[in-house]
Amino acid sequence: MIWTTAATLLFSIILFYSLTKEPKIHRNGEKLKRPPNTLPVLGNAIVFLRPRHVLFDWFVKCQQIFGRETFEISVPSLPPGVVINSPENLEFVLKNESIITKGDFFKQRSWDLFGYGIINATGDSWRAQRKAGVKFFTAANLDALIEHVMPTVYQDTTRKQLLEAVRDGSVIDLQKVLLDLTTTVVGHMAYDMEIDASSPFGKAFDHASDHVGLRFQNPLYWLTEMFTGASFRSSLAEVRRFSMQIVTNARKRRSRAAFESLITEGDGDTSTPPSDPCFGSLIDSLIESFAEPQVVADAALNFLSAGRDTTAQSFTWMFYALMRHPEALKEVRKEVDEKVSNIEDIDISLLQPATLPLTLATYYEALRLYPPIPFELKQTSQPVTLPDGTFLPANALVVWCIYAFNRAVEIYGDDAHLFRPGRWLDEDGKLVPRSFLEFPVFNGGPRSCLGKKMAELMGVWVMVRMCSEWDFDEVMDGLVRVDDNGKEIVRERVSANSLTLPMEGGLPCRVRMRDRKVPQERKVNGH
Ligand code: HEM
Ligand SMILES: *[C@@H]1O[C@H](CO)[C@@H](O)[C@H](O)[C@H]1NC(C)=O
Ligand SMILES: *[C@@H]1O[C@H](CO)[C@@H](O)[C@H](O)[C@H]1NC(C)=O
Repeated sequence: MIWTTAATLLFSIILFYSLTKEPKIHRNGEKLKRPPNTLPVLGNAIVFLRPRHVLFDWFVKCQQIFGRETFEISVPSLPPGVVINSPENLEFVLKNESIITKGDFFKQRSWDLFGYGIINATGDSWRAQRKAGVKFFTAANLDALIEHVMPTVYQDTTRKQLLEAVRDGSVIDLQKVLLDLTTTVVGHMAYDMEIDASSPFGKAFDHASDHVGLRFQNPLYWLTEMFTGASFRSSLAEVRRFSMQIVTNARKRRSRAAFESLITEGDGDTSTPPSDPCFGSLIDSLIESFAEPQVVADAALNFLSAGRDTTAQSFTWMFYALMRHPEALKEVRKEVDEKVSNIEDIDISLLQPATLPLTLATYYEALRLYPPIPFELKQTSQPVTLPDGTFLPANALVVWCIYAFNRAVEIYGDDAHLFRPGRWLDEDGKLVPRSFLEFPVFNGGPRSCLGKKMAELMGVWVMVRMCSEWDFDEVMDGLVRVDDNGKEIVRERVSANSLTLPMEGGLPCRVRMRDRKVPQERKVNGH
Protein backbone atom coordinates (compact mmCIF):
# COMPACT_ATOMS: atom_id res chain seq x y z
CA MET A 1 0.00 0.00 0.00
CA ILE A 2 2.79 2.42 0.94
CA TRP A 3 4.64 1.50 -2.23
CA THR A 4 1.57 1.92 -4.37
CA THR A 5 0.98 5.33 -2.83
CA ALA A 6 4.62 6.33 -3.25
CA ALA A 7 4.67 5.21 -6.86
CA THR A 8 1.39 7.04 -7.49
CA LEU A 9 2.92 10.15 -6.02
CA LEU A 10 5.99 10.04 -8.17
CA PHE A 11 4.02 9.31 -11.28
CA SER A 12 1.59 12.09 -10.39
CA ILE A 13 4.22 14.70 -9.77
CA ILE A 14 5.69 14.03 -13.18
CA LEU A 15 2.28 14.23 -14.77
CA PHE A 16 1.38 17.29 -12.78
CA TYR A 17 4.35 19.19 -14.14
CA SER A 18 3.87 17.95 -17.65
CA LEU A 19 0.32 19.29 -17.52
CA THR A 20 0.99 22.72 -16.06
CA LYS A 21 1.42 24.26 -19.50
CA GLU A 22 -2.31 23.80 -20.15
CA PRO A 23 -4.60 26.82 -19.73
CA LYS A 24 -5.85 27.04 -16.15
CA ILE A 25 -9.29 27.04 -14.60
CA HIS A 26 -10.39 30.55 -13.60
CA ARG A 27 -13.45 32.74 -13.05
CA ASN A 28 -13.19 36.18 -14.66
CA GLY A 29 -9.41 35.99 -14.43
CA GLU A 30 -9.43 35.04 -10.73
CA LYS A 31 -8.43 31.72 -9.26
CA LEU A 32 -11.26 29.62 -7.80
CA LYS A 33 -11.47 28.91 -4.08
CA ARG A 34 -10.00 25.66 -2.85
CA PRO A 35 -11.37 23.46 -0.05
CA PRO A 36 -9.74 23.73 3.39
CA ASN A 37 -6.66 21.54 3.87
CA THR A 38 -5.76 21.47 0.18
CA LEU A 39 -2.06 20.49 0.02
CA PRO A 40 0.57 22.00 -2.30
CA VAL A 41 1.32 19.21 -4.80
CA LEU A 42 -1.02 16.53 -3.49
CA GLY A 43 -4.04 18.78 -3.73
CA ASN A 44 -7.08 16.85 -2.46
CA ALA A 45 -5.64 13.40 -3.15
CA ILE A 46 -5.78 12.19 0.43
CA VAL A 47 -9.50 12.64 0.90
CA PHE A 48 -10.14 10.84 -2.40
CA LEU A 49 -8.25 7.82 -1.09
CA ARG A 50 -10.27 7.71 2.15
CA PRO A 51 -13.31 5.45 2.57
CA ARG A 52 -16.23 6.59 0.47
CA HIS A 53 -18.42 7.77 3.34
CA VAL A 54 -15.60 10.02 4.58
CA LEU A 55 -15.34 11.49 1.08
CA PHE A 56 -19.11 12.16 0.99
CA ASP A 57 -19.03 13.87 4.38
CA TRP A 58 -16.20 16.01 3.04
CA PHE A 59 -18.33 16.99 0.03
CA VAL A 60 -21.16 17.91 2.43
CA LYS A 61 -18.79 20.08 4.45
CA CYS A 62 -17.50 21.79 1.30
CA GLN A 63 -21.09 22.40 0.21
CA GLN A 64 -21.78 24.06 3.58
CA ILE A 65 -18.70 26.27 3.22
CA PHE A 66 -19.12 27.27 -0.43
CA GLY A 67 -22.90 27.15 -0.83
CA ARG A 68 -23.64 27.34 -4.55
CA GLU A 69 -20.20 28.60 -5.53
CA THR A 70 -18.08 26.45 -7.84
CA PHE A 71 -14.74 25.48 -6.30
CA GLU A 72 -11.62 23.81 -7.62
CA ILE A 73 -10.17 20.45 -6.66
CA SER A 74 -7.09 18.62 -7.81
CA VAL A 75 -5.80 15.10 -7.57
CA PRO A 76 -2.33 14.43 -8.95
CA SER A 77 -2.36 12.24 -12.10
CA LEU A 78 -5.86 13.47 -12.96
CA PRO A 79 -6.77 16.55 -15.00
CA PRO A 80 -7.75 19.63 -12.95
CA GLY A 81 -11.39 19.80 -11.93
CA VAL A 82 -14.22 21.70 -10.34
CA VAL A 83 -17.11 20.77 -8.08
CA ILE A 84 -20.37 22.42 -9.12
CA ASN A 85 -23.15 23.05 -6.61
CA SER A 86 -25.71 25.29 -8.29
CA PRO A 87 -28.83 24.31 -10.24
CA GLU A 88 -27.80 26.72 -13.07
CA ASN A 89 -24.43 25.04 -13.57
CA LEU A 90 -25.99 21.61 -13.28
CA GLU A 91 -28.57 22.43 -15.96
CA PHE A 92 -25.83 23.62 -18.29
CA VAL A 93 -23.81 20.46 -17.74
CA LEU A 94 -26.69 18.00 -18.05
CA LYS A 95 -28.10 19.64 -21.16
CA ASN A 96 -24.76 20.02 -22.91
CA GLU A 97 -23.93 16.38 -23.39
CA SER A 98 -21.86 17.13 -26.50
CA ILE A 99 -19.25 19.29 -24.76
CA ILE A 100 -19.33 17.81 -21.24
CA THR A 101 -19.35 14.04 -21.52
CA LYS A 102 -18.35 10.90 -19.79
CA GLY A 103 -14.66 11.22 -20.44
CA ASP A 104 -11.87 8.73 -20.77
CA PHE A 105 -11.41 8.68 -17.02
CA PHE A 106 -14.77 6.95 -16.66
CA LYS A 107 -14.69 4.93 -19.89
CA GLN A 108 -11.28 3.41 -19.42
CA ARG A 109 -12.25 2.07 -16.02
CA SER A 110 -15.70 0.79 -16.88
CA TRP A 111 -15.16 -0.45 -20.44
CA ASP A 112 -14.41 -4.06 -19.45
CA LEU A 113 -17.81 -4.42 -17.84
CA PHE A 114 -20.03 -2.02 -19.76
CA GLY A 115 -18.50 -2.55 -23.22
CA TYR A 116 -20.68 -1.23 -26.03
CA GLY A 117 -23.66 -0.76 -23.70
CA ILE A 118 -25.60 2.45 -23.16
CA ILE A 119 -23.66 3.55 -20.08
CA ASN A 120 -20.41 4.00 -22.05
CA ALA A 121 -21.95 4.67 -25.46
CA THR A 122 -22.20 8.01 -27.23
CA GLY A 123 -23.54 9.14 -30.61
CA ASP A 124 -25.61 6.83 -32.79
CA SER A 125 -25.09 3.72 -30.69
CA TRP A 126 -26.35 5.59 -27.61
CA ARG A 127 -29.36 6.98 -29.49
CA ALA A 128 -30.36 3.54 -30.77
CA GLN A 129 -30.06 1.94 -27.32
CA ARG A 130 -31.94 4.79 -25.73
CA LYS A 131 -34.72 4.31 -28.28
CA ALA A 132 -34.87 0.56 -27.64
CA GLY A 133 -35.06 1.31 -23.91
CA VAL A 134 -37.84 3.87 -24.29
CA LYS A 135 -39.70 1.45 -26.54
CA PHE A 136 -39.44 -1.18 -23.85
CA PHE A 137 -40.71 0.92 -20.94
CA THR A 138 -44.29 1.15 -22.20
CA ALA A 139 -47.24 1.35 -19.85
CA ALA A 140 -48.15 -2.23 -20.75
CA ASN A 141 -44.69 -3.55 -19.87
CA LEU A 142 -44.58 -1.61 -16.60
CA ASP A 143 -48.02 -3.06 -15.78
CA ALA A 144 -46.75 -6.57 -16.44
CA LEU A 145 -43.61 -5.97 -14.46
CA ILE A 146 -45.44 -4.64 -11.42
CA GLU A 147 -48.55 -6.80 -11.48
CA HIS A 148 -47.01 -10.12 -12.54
CA VAL A 149 -43.22 -10.25 -12.31
CA MET A 150 -42.87 -8.45 -8.96
CA PRO A 151 -45.48 -10.49 -7.04
CA THR A 152 -44.25 -13.79 -8.50
CA VAL A 153 -40.60 -13.17 -7.72
CA TYR A 154 -41.47 -11.81 -4.29
CA GLN A 155 -43.60 -14.86 -3.50
CA ASP A 156 -40.99 -17.33 -4.75
CA THR A 157 -37.85 -15.78 -3.25
CA THR A 158 -38.25 -12.87 -0.83
CA ARG A 159 -41.23 -14.19 1.09
CA LYS A 160 -39.67 -17.64 1.43
CA GLN A 161 -36.42 -16.20 2.77
CA LEU A 162 -38.26 -14.03 5.28
CA LEU A 163 -40.58 -16.81 6.44
CA GLU A 164 -37.61 -19.04 7.04
CA ALA A 165 -35.94 -16.31 9.12
CA VAL A 166 -39.15 -15.87 11.13
CA ARG A 167 -39.33 -19.61 11.76
CA ASP A 168 -35.81 -20.05 13.10
CA GLY A 169 -35.41 -16.57 14.53
CA SER A 170 -32.24 -16.07 12.52
CA VAL A 171 -30.67 -12.78 11.55
CA ILE A 172 -31.00 -11.93 7.86
CA ASP A 173 -29.16 -9.35 5.79
CA LEU A 174 -32.03 -7.32 4.40
CA GLN A 175 -29.75 -5.76 1.79
CA LYS A 176 -28.97 -9.22 0.41
CA VAL A 177 -32.67 -10.21 0.42
CA LEU A 178 -33.57 -7.05 -1.51
CA LEU A 179 -30.70 -7.52 -3.96
CA ASP A 180 -31.94 -11.04 -4.71
CA LEU A 181 -35.36 -9.56 -5.42
CA THR A 182 -34.19 -6.76 -7.72
CA THR A 183 -31.64 -8.95 -9.54
CA THR A 184 -34.37 -11.40 -10.47
CA VAL A 185 -36.91 -8.73 -11.41
CA VAL A 186 -34.53 -6.57 -13.47
CA GLY A 187 -32.93 -9.71 -14.96
CA HIS A 188 -36.38 -10.85 -16.04
CA MET A 189 -36.96 -7.46 -17.61
CA ALA A 190 -33.64 -7.36 -19.46
CA TYR A 191 -33.31 -11.00 -20.50
CA ASP A 192 -36.77 -12.50 -20.18
CA MET A 193 -35.42 -15.25 -17.92
CA GLU A 194 -34.75 -16.04 -14.29
CA ILE A 195 -31.40 -14.82 -13.01
CA ASP A 196 -30.49 -16.20 -9.64
CA ALA A 197 -28.24 -13.88 -7.62
CA SER A 198 -26.35 -16.87 -6.25
CA SER A 199 -25.81 -18.52 -9.65
CA PRO A 200 -22.30 -18.51 -11.18
CA PHE A 201 -23.36 -15.61 -13.37
CA GLY A 202 -24.80 -13.67 -10.42
CA LYS A 203 -21.64 -14.13 -8.42
CA ALA A 204 -19.32 -13.33 -11.31
CA PHE A 205 -21.33 -10.22 -12.08
CA ASP A 206 -21.15 -9.09 -8.45
CA HIS A 207 -17.43 -9.62 -8.33
CA ALA A 208 -16.76 -7.83 -11.61
CA SER A 209 -18.95 -4.83 -10.64
CA ASP A 210 -17.20 -4.47 -7.28
CA HIS A 211 -13.84 -4.64 -8.95
CA VAL A 212 -14.69 -1.95 -11.50
CA GLY A 213 -15.85 0.23 -8.60
CA LEU A 214 -12.47 -0.14 -6.89
CA ARG A 215 -10.66 1.02 -10.01
CA PHE A 216 -12.00 4.50 -9.42
CA GLN A 217 -10.10 4.71 -6.17
CA ASN A 218 -6.84 3.24 -7.37
CA PRO A 219 -5.02 5.49 -9.85
CA LEU A 220 -2.62 2.64 -10.65
CA TYR A 221 -5.27 -0.03 -11.13
CA TRP A 222 -3.81 -1.10 -14.50
CA LEU A 223 -0.53 -1.86 -12.78
CA THR A 224 -1.90 -3.69 -9.73
CA GLU A 225 -4.21 -5.73 -11.96
CA MET A 226 -1.23 -7.24 -13.73
CA PHE A 227 -0.55 -9.07 -10.48
CA THR A 228 -3.92 -9.42 -8.81
CA GLY A 229 -6.37 -9.29 -11.70
CA ALA A 230 -6.80 -13.01 -12.39
CA SER A 231 -10.08 -13.52 -10.54
CA PHE A 232 -11.47 -10.31 -12.04
CA ARG A 233 -10.62 -11.54 -15.52
CA SER A 234 -12.26 -14.90 -14.94
CA SER A 235 -15.41 -13.22 -13.57
CA LEU A 236 -15.54 -10.99 -16.64
CA ALA A 237 -15.16 -14.01 -18.90
CA GLU A 238 -18.09 -15.72 -17.12
CA VAL A 239 -20.27 -12.61 -17.40
CA ARG A 240 -19.48 -12.26 -21.10
CA ARG A 241 -20.01 -15.97 -21.81
CA PHE A 242 -23.37 -15.98 -20.06
CA SER A 243 -24.71 -12.83 -21.68
CA MET A 244 -23.69 -14.02 -25.16
CA GLN A 245 -25.44 -17.29 -24.40
CA ILE A 246 -28.66 -15.45 -23.60
CA VAL A 247 -28.50 -13.50 -26.85
CA THR A 248 -27.85 -16.66 -28.84
CA ASN A 249 -30.81 -18.40 -27.19
CA ALA A 250 -33.07 -15.40 -27.74
CA ARG A 251 -32.12 -15.27 -31.43
CA LYS A 252 -32.81 -18.99 -31.80
CA ARG A 253 -36.15 -18.63 -30.07
CA ARG A 254 -37.08 -15.75 -32.35
CA SER A 255 -36.18 -17.50 -35.56
CA ARG A 256 -38.01 -20.64 -34.40
CA ALA A 257 -41.08 -18.55 -33.62
CA ALA A 258 -40.84 -16.83 -36.99
CA PHE A 259 -40.55 -20.20 -38.71
CA GLU A 260 -43.50 -21.66 -36.77
CA SER A 261 -45.70 -18.70 -37.52
CA LEU A 262 -44.80 -19.14 -41.18
CA ILE A 263 -45.89 -22.79 -41.33
CA THR A 264 -49.01 -22.35 -39.20
CA GLU A 265 -50.08 -19.25 -41.08
CA GLY A 266 -53.36 -19.69 -42.86
CA ASP A 267 -54.56 -22.85 -41.07
CA GLY A 268 -56.18 -20.73 -38.36
CA ASP A 269 -54.17 -22.34 -35.58
CA THR A 270 -53.77 -19.89 -32.71
CA SER A 271 -53.32 -22.50 -30.00
CA THR A 272 -49.61 -21.92 -29.39
CA PRO A 273 -49.22 -18.60 -27.61
CA PRO A 274 -45.76 -17.08 -27.10
CA SER A 275 -44.04 -17.97 -23.82
CA ASP A 276 -45.03 -14.81 -21.96
CA PRO A 277 -47.84 -13.05 -23.77
CA CYS A 278 -48.08 -9.99 -21.52
CA PHE A 279 -44.42 -9.14 -21.47
CA GLY A 280 -42.24 -7.88 -24.30
CA SER A 281 -38.64 -8.27 -23.23
CA LEU A 282 -35.91 -5.73 -23.64
CA ILE A 283 -33.69 -8.23 -25.37
CA ASP A 284 -36.28 -8.46 -28.16
CA SER A 285 -36.25 -4.69 -28.67
CA LEU A 286 -32.47 -4.78 -28.72
CA ILE A 287 -32.24 -7.64 -31.21
CA GLU A 288 -34.56 -5.70 -33.49
CA SER A 289 -32.27 -2.66 -33.30
CA PHE A 290 -28.77 -4.18 -33.45
CA ALA A 291 -27.35 -6.79 -35.79
CA GLU A 292 -24.21 -7.38 -33.72
CA PRO A 293 -24.83 -9.96 -30.91
CA GLN A 294 -22.05 -8.49 -28.79
CA VAL A 295 -23.76 -5.11 -28.77
CA VAL A 296 -27.07 -6.70 -27.77
CA ALA A 297 -25.35 -8.65 -24.99
CA ASP A 298 -23.55 -5.58 -23.64
CA ALA A 299 -26.65 -3.42 -23.90
CA ALA A 300 -28.77 -5.90 -21.93
CA LEU A 301 -26.05 -6.27 -19.29
CA ASN A 302 -25.92 -2.49 -18.91
CA PHE A 303 -29.63 -2.38 -18.13
CA LEU A 304 -29.13 -5.07 -15.53
CA SER A 305 -26.19 -3.12 -14.02
CA ALA A 306 -28.09 0.16 -14.05
CA GLY A 307 -31.24 -1.25 -12.50
CA ARG A 308 -30.46 -3.88 -9.91
CA ASP A 309 -27.98 -2.34 -7.43
CA THR A 310 -29.51 1.11 -7.52
CA THR A 311 -32.98 -0.18 -6.67
CA ALA A 312 -31.81 -2.72 -4.07
CA GLN A 313 -29.72 -0.09 -2.32
CA SER A 314 -32.47 2.50 -2.34
CA PHE A 315 -34.88 -0.01 -0.73
CA THR A 316 -32.24 -0.97 1.82
CA TRP A 317 -31.69 2.64 2.95
CA MET A 318 -35.44 3.18 2.97
CA PHE A 319 -36.08 0.27 5.36
CA TYR A 320 -33.13 1.41 7.42
CA ALA A 321 -34.59 4.92 7.69
CA LEU A 322 -37.99 3.48 8.63
CA MET A 323 -36.45 1.32 11.36
CA ARG A 324 -34.66 4.35 12.77
CA HIS A 325 -37.84 6.48 12.47
CA PRO A 326 -40.75 4.41 13.78
CA GLU A 327 -43.07 7.43 13.59
CA ALA A 328 -42.51 7.58 9.81
CA LEU A 329 -43.22 3.84 9.50
CA LYS A 330 -46.48 4.33 11.42
CA GLU A 331 -47.57 7.02 8.96
CA VAL A 332 -46.77 4.85 5.94
CA ARG A 333 -48.72 1.94 7.42
CA LYS A 334 -51.66 4.19 8.17
CA GLU A 335 -51.80 5.33 4.55
CA VAL A 336 -51.34 1.82 3.17
CA ASP A 337 -53.90 0.24 5.50
CA GLU A 338 -56.41 2.89 4.49
CA LYS A 339 -55.89 2.76 0.74
CA VAL A 340 -54.90 -0.82 -0.08
CA SER A 341 -57.47 -3.47 0.77
CA ASN A 342 -55.67 -6.52 -0.61
CA ILE A 343 -51.90 -6.46 -0.49
CA GLU A 344 -51.72 -9.74 -2.36
CA ASP A 345 -53.18 -8.12 -5.44
CA ILE A 346 -51.70 -4.65 -5.84
CA ASP A 347 -53.06 -2.85 -8.87
CA ILE A 348 -50.61 -0.49 -10.57
CA SER A 349 -53.14 2.35 -10.32
CA LEU A 350 -52.82 2.17 -6.52
CA LEU A 351 -49.11 2.91 -6.67
CA GLN A 352 -49.50 6.38 -8.18
CA PRO A 353 -48.56 9.55 -6.26
CA ALA A 354 -52.20 10.64 -6.08
CA THR A 355 -53.22 7.49 -4.18
CA LEU A 356 -50.23 6.94 -1.89
CA PRO A 357 -48.54 10.36 -1.66
CA LEU A 358 -46.92 9.80 1.71
CA THR A 359 -45.54 6.40 0.76
CA LEU A 360 -43.87 7.81 -2.36
CA ALA A 361 -42.71 10.84 -0.33
CA THR A 362 -41.02 8.44 2.09
CA TYR A 363 -39.22 6.73 -0.78
CA TYR A 364 -38.12 10.12 -2.16
CA GLU A 365 -36.85 11.13 1.25
CA ALA A 366 -34.72 7.98 1.44
CA LEU A 367 -33.42 8.66 -2.09
CA ARG A 368 -32.63 12.22 -1.09
CA LEU A 369 -30.49 11.33 1.92
CA TYR A 370 -29.05 8.17 0.37
CA PRO A 371 -28.86 8.63 -3.42
CA PRO A 372 -27.82 5.28 -4.99
CA ILE A 373 -25.59 7.13 -7.44
CA PRO A 374 -23.91 9.46 -4.96
CA PHE A 375 -21.69 11.41 -7.28
CA GLU A 376 -21.15 12.04 -10.96
CA LEU A 377 -18.07 12.86 -12.89
CA LYS A 378 -17.81 14.21 -16.44
CA GLN A 379 -15.12 15.75 -18.59
CA THR A 380 -15.08 18.69 -20.97
CA SER A 381 -14.31 17.81 -24.57
CA GLN A 382 -13.47 21.44 -25.44
CA PRO A 383 -12.94 24.69 -23.50
CA VAL A 384 -16.19 25.65 -21.75
CA THR A 385 -17.46 28.62 -19.74
CA LEU A 386 -20.12 27.70 -17.18
CA PRO A 387 -23.07 30.07 -16.50
CA ASP A 388 -21.33 31.43 -13.37
CA GLY A 389 -18.32 32.47 -15.47
CA THR A 390 -16.05 29.57 -14.53
CA PHE A 391 -13.72 28.85 -17.42
CA LEU A 392 -12.72 25.20 -17.95
CA PRO A 393 -10.05 24.06 -20.39
CA ALA A 394 -10.62 20.94 -22.50
CA ASN A 395 -10.41 17.67 -20.52
CA ALA A 396 -11.21 19.30 -17.18
CA LEU A 397 -13.19 17.17 -14.70
CA VAL A 398 -16.64 18.35 -13.68
CA VAL A 399 -17.90 16.75 -10.50
CA TRP A 400 -21.18 17.05 -8.66
CA CYS A 401 -21.86 15.20 -5.48
CA ILE A 402 -25.54 14.29 -5.42
CA TYR A 403 -25.15 13.18 -1.82
CA ALA A 404 -24.09 16.74 -0.85
CA PHE A 405 -26.47 18.47 -3.27
CA ASN A 406 -29.44 16.73 -1.64
CA ARG A 407 -28.41 17.95 1.81
CA ALA A 408 -28.07 21.64 0.85
CA VAL A 409 -29.88 23.97 3.24
CA GLU A 410 -30.21 26.40 0.29
CA ILE A 411 -32.66 23.92 -1.26
CA TYR A 412 -34.10 21.91 1.62
CA GLY A 413 -33.95 24.35 4.51
CA ASP A 414 -32.31 24.10 7.92
CA ASP A 415 -33.58 20.58 8.56
CA ALA A 416 -31.99 19.30 5.32
CA HIS A 417 -29.98 16.66 7.19
CA LEU A 418 -33.09 15.11 8.82
CA PHE A 419 -35.33 12.32 7.54
CA ARG A 420 -38.69 14.11 7.14
CA PRO A 421 -40.91 12.58 4.42
CA GLY A 422 -43.51 15.30 5.09
CA ARG A 423 -41.30 17.85 3.35
CA TRP A 424 -42.47 16.43 0.00
CA LEU A 425 -46.16 17.13 0.69
CA ASP A 426 -48.10 20.41 0.48
CA GLU A 427 -50.78 21.49 3.00
CA ASP A 428 -53.40 19.31 1.29
CA GLY A 429 -51.16 16.26 1.56
CA LYS A 430 -50.41 16.28 -2.17
CA LEU A 431 -46.96 15.21 -3.33
CA VAL A 432 -44.90 18.02 -4.85
CA PRO A 433 -42.03 16.54 -6.86
CA ARG A 434 -38.84 18.52 -7.36
CA SER A 435 -37.12 19.12 -10.66
CA PHE A 436 -33.89 17.27 -11.45
CA LEU A 437 -32.02 20.52 -10.87
CA GLU A 438 -32.82 20.35 -7.18
CA PHE A 439 -33.07 16.57 -6.89
CA PRO A 440 -30.57 15.11 -9.39
CA VAL A 441 -30.94 11.55 -8.10
CA PHE A 442 -32.06 10.21 -11.50
CA ASN A 443 -29.90 12.58 -13.54
CA GLY A 444 -31.67 14.85 -16.05
CA GLY A 445 -31.58 16.09 -19.61
CA PRO A 446 -31.07 13.71 -22.52
CA ARG A 447 -29.31 11.11 -20.37
CA SER A 448 -31.82 11.00 -17.57
CA CYS A 449 -32.44 7.62 -16.00
CA LEU A 450 -34.61 5.42 -18.19
CA GLY A 451 -35.76 3.36 -15.23
CA LYS A 452 -37.05 6.16 -12.97
CA LYS A 453 -40.72 5.25 -13.26
CA MET A 454 -39.92 1.57 -12.86
CA ALA A 455 -37.82 2.26 -9.75
CA GLU A 456 -40.58 4.39 -8.20
CA LEU A 457 -43.25 1.79 -8.88
CA MET A 458 -41.07 -0.97 -7.47
CA GLY A 459 -40.23 1.15 -4.42
CA VAL A 460 -43.85 1.88 -3.58
CA TRP A 461 -44.82 -1.74 -4.27
CA VAL A 462 -42.10 -3.01 -1.94
CA MET A 463 -43.18 -0.63 0.82
CA VAL A 464 -46.87 -1.45 0.50
CA ARG A 465 -46.25 -5.17 0.57
CA MET A 466 -43.38 -5.49 3.00
CA CYS A 467 -44.41 -2.86 5.57
CA SER A 468 -47.81 -4.57 5.68
CA GLU A 469 -46.46 -8.06 6.13
CA TRP A 470 -43.37 -7.79 8.30
CA ASP A 471 -41.80 -6.09 11.27
CA PHE A 472 -38.05 -5.65 10.96
CA ASP A 473 -35.77 -5.07 13.93
CA GLU A 474 -32.30 -3.84 13.17
CA VAL A 475 -29.51 -5.80 14.84
CA MET A 476 -27.29 -3.08 16.27
CA ASP A 477 -24.25 -5.12 17.27
CA GLY A 478 -21.24 -2.84 17.47
CA LEU A 479 -23.22 0.31 16.70
CA VAL A 480 -24.16 1.30 20.24
CA ARG A 481 -21.86 3.04 22.67
CA VAL A 482 -22.45 4.80 25.96
CA ASP A 483 -21.19 8.38 26.25
CA ASP A 484 -19.69 10.08 29.33
CA ASN A 485 -23.13 10.95 30.72
CA GLY A 486 -24.32 7.37 30.44
CA LYS A 487 -26.45 8.11 27.40
CA GLU A 488 -26.69 5.50 24.64
CA ILE A 489 -25.49 6.69 21.25
CA VAL A 490 -26.39 4.66 18.18
CA ARG A 491 -24.04 5.12 15.26
CA GLU A 492 -25.44 5.73 11.76
CA ARG A 493 -24.77 3.07 9.17
CA VAL A 494 -22.44 4.13 6.36
CA SER A 495 -21.88 3.23 2.74
CA ALA A 496 -19.16 0.92 1.48
CA ASN A 497 -16.65 1.76 -1.24
CA SER A 498 -18.35 1.38 -4.58
CA LEU A 499 -19.55 3.30 -7.62
CA THR A 500 -23.01 3.14 -6.08
CA LEU A 501 -24.16 3.27 -2.45
CA PRO A 502 -24.22 -0.19 -0.85
CA MET A 503 -24.58 -0.31 2.92
CA GLU A 504 -21.34 -1.36 4.56
CA GLY A 505 -21.76 -4.76 6.19
CA GLY A 506 -25.33 -5.11 4.91
CA LEU A 507 -28.44 -4.49 7.01
CA PRO A 508 -28.73 -7.23 9.64
CA CYS A 509 -32.30 -7.62 10.91
CA ARG A 510 -34.63 -9.92 12.74
CA VAL A 511 -38.02 -10.45 11.17
CA ARG A 512 -41.48 -10.95 12.64
CA MET A 513 -44.81 -11.39 10.91
CA ARG A 514 -46.74 -8.19 11.41
CA ASP A 515 -49.97 -8.48 13.32
CA ARG A 516 -52.50 -7.16 10.82
CA LYS A 517 -55.63 -7.49 12.96
CA VAL A 518 -56.40 -3.80 12.70
CA PRO A 519 -57.08 -3.49 8.96
CA GLN A 520 -59.03 -6.76 8.96
CA GLU A 521 -61.34 -5.52 11.71
CA ARG A 522 -61.84 -2.33 9.81
CA LYS A 523 -62.85 -4.24 6.72
CA VAL A 524 -65.45 -6.19 8.71
CA ASN A 525 -66.82 -2.94 10.16
CA GLY A 526 -66.90 -1.44 6.70
CA HIS A 527 -69.40 -4.05 5.46
C1 HEM B 1 -33.41 4.10 -7.48
C2 HEM B 1 -33.03 3.60 -8.61
C3 HEM B 1 -32.24 4.29 -9.68
C4 HEM B 1 -31.46 5.42 -9.62
C5 HEM B 1 -31.15 6.28 -8.40
C6 HEM B 1 -30.91 5.64 -10.94
C7 HEM B 1 -30.10 6.70 -11.28
C8 HEM B 1 -29.55 6.90 -12.54
C9 HEM B 1 -28.61 7.95 -12.87
C10 HEM B 1 -28.06 8.99 -11.91
C11 HEM B 1 -28.30 7.82 -14.18
C12 HEM B 1 -27.31 8.66 -14.98
C13 HEM B 1 -25.98 7.99 -15.03
C14 HEM B 1 -25.00 8.75 -15.88
O1 HEM B 1 -25.25 8.94 -17.07
O2 HEM B 1 -23.97 9.15 -15.36
C15 HEM B 1 -29.06 6.70 -14.68
C16 HEM B 1 -29.02 6.26 -15.98
C17 HEM B 1 -29.67 5.12 -16.42
N1 HEM B 1 -30.55 4.33 -15.71
FE1 HEM B 1 -31.06 4.56 -13.78
N2 HEM B 1 -31.39 4.67 -11.78
C18 HEM B 1 -32.19 3.82 -11.06
C19 HEM B 1 -32.88 2.72 -11.52
C20 HEM B 1 -32.86 2.27 -12.82
C21 HEM B 1 -33.59 1.13 -13.32
C22 HEM B 1 -34.53 0.26 -12.50
C23 HEM B 1 -33.25 0.99 -14.64
C24 HEM B 1 -33.69 -0.02 -15.65
C25 HEM B 1 -33.96 -1.23 -15.43
C26 HEM B 1 -32.34 2.06 -14.97
C27 HEM B 1 -31.78 2.28 -16.21
C28 HEM B 1 -30.94 3.31 -16.53
C29 HEM B 1 -30.33 3.46 -17.84
C30 HEM B 1 -30.51 2.53 -19.02
C31 HEM B 1 -29.52 4.60 -17.78
C32 HEM B 1 -28.66 5.19 -18.89
C33 HEM B 1 -29.39 6.26 -19.63
C34 HEM B 1 -28.56 6.91 -20.72
O3 HEM B 1 -27.35 6.92 -20.63
O4 HEM B 1 -29.18 7.40 -21.67
N3 HEM B 1 -32.13 2.83 -13.84
N4 HEM B 1 -29.82 6.16 -13.66
C1 LIG C 1 -24.85 24.71 -23.86
O1 LIG C 1 -23.63 25.33 -24.22
C2 LIG C 1 -23.75 26.43 -25.10
C3 LIG C 1 -22.36 26.88 -25.52
O2 LIG C 1 -21.52 27.04 -24.42
C4 LIG C 1 -24.56 27.54 -24.42
O3 LIG C 1 -24.70 28.66 -25.25
C5 LIG C 1 -25.94 26.97 -24.03
O4 LIG C 1 -26.68 27.94 -23.34
C6 LIG C 1 -25.81 25.72 -23.20
N1 LIG C 1 -27.12 25.11 -22.99
C7 LIG C 1 -27.74 25.08 -21.78
C8 LIG C 1 -29.06 24.41 -21.76
O5 LIG C 1 -27.28 25.56 -20.77
C1 LIG D 1 -16.25 2.90 -24.60
O1 LIG D 1 -15.03 3.28 -23.98
C2 LIG D 1 -13.86 2.81 -24.59
C3 LIG D 1 -12.66 3.15 -23.74
O2 LIG D 1 -12.46 4.53 -23.63
C4 LIG D 1 -13.75 3.34 -26.02
O3 LIG D 1 -12.59 2.85 -26.65
C5 LIG D 1 -14.99 2.90 -26.78
O4 LIG D 1 -14.97 3.43 -28.09
C6 LIG D 1 -16.26 3.30 -26.06
N1 LIG D 1 -17.38 2.71 -26.73
C7 LIG D 1 -18.42 3.40 -27.17
C8 LIG D 1 -19.46 2.64 -27.89
O5 LIG D 1 -18.53 4.59 -26.99
